[in-house]
Amino acid sequence: MKFQSFKTYAEMSKAAAEIVAGVVKAKPDCVLGLATGSSPIGTYDELVRMHKEEGLSFARCTSVNLDEYRGLPGTHPQSYRYFMDEHLFTRVDIPRERTFVPNGTAADPDVECAMYDERIKRLGGTDVQILGIGPDGHIGFNEPADEFTDETHLVDLDPSTIEANARFFDSAADVPRQALTMGMGGIMSAKKIVLVASGAAKKAVLDAAMNGPVTPKLPASILQKHPDVVVLYAEA
Ligand code: F6R
Repeated sequence: MKFQSFKTYAEMSKAAAEIVAGVVKAKPDCVLGLATGSSPIGTYDELVRMHKEEGLSFARCTSVNLDEYRGLPGTHPQSYRYFMDEHLFTRVDIPRERTFVPNGTAADPDVECAMYDERIKRLGGTDVQILGIGPDGHIGFNEPADEFTDETHLVDLDPSTIEANARFFDSAADVPRQALTMGMGGIMSAKKIVLVASGAAKKAVLDAAMNGPVTPKLPASILQKHPDVVVLYAEA
């Protein structure tokens, strides 16, 4: 795993966007693996700037997102579909019908998860996967567990994740208790992975993920087994 540290969130975001843009330029019909949360917002802003000012085109790209809250429709402002529309999809030229986010309101989440994996497989995996990291070391919503789960699956959110994400809702009680998340198989199928994280609070979990033992108790540690991961960290 490569590690690069930056003074500011803006510098980190620019570096992440440059990596993604490099993939899009080299392979205009690439598959982008996308994350939500506060960490990649600056990356998306920079990609939007590149689209508007430098002609970077996503017209032939496909995207698959990591996760979605169970029970939230895409029209809910805290749903991850809504987040992606707002921060990226409606601001660039990616065709909406080629942007995929797990359906949080699917009647049968297991069927939805199986279909999501089938789609990732048919696409041949992602060309580049953007990741953030949770305070408990989760990636996607793969929470600390006794074993790694390869498949897209329904997960009970960890209390620390509910607390961390409460900032986006009126209260912690409003945070959904479950989510559909891409599993480690989908994440590790990426040809290249870019993890963005900022702030002192993320430093210890990042160090443990990069340098500690590979264990499902710290899900991001699995990235040590991937041949092309770059961790971009901003101090502020
Ligand atoms: C979001 C996701 C999560 C976040 C993580 C960090 O799609 O998959 O793993 O990346 O919870 O969130 P932030 O960036 O808000 O600290």
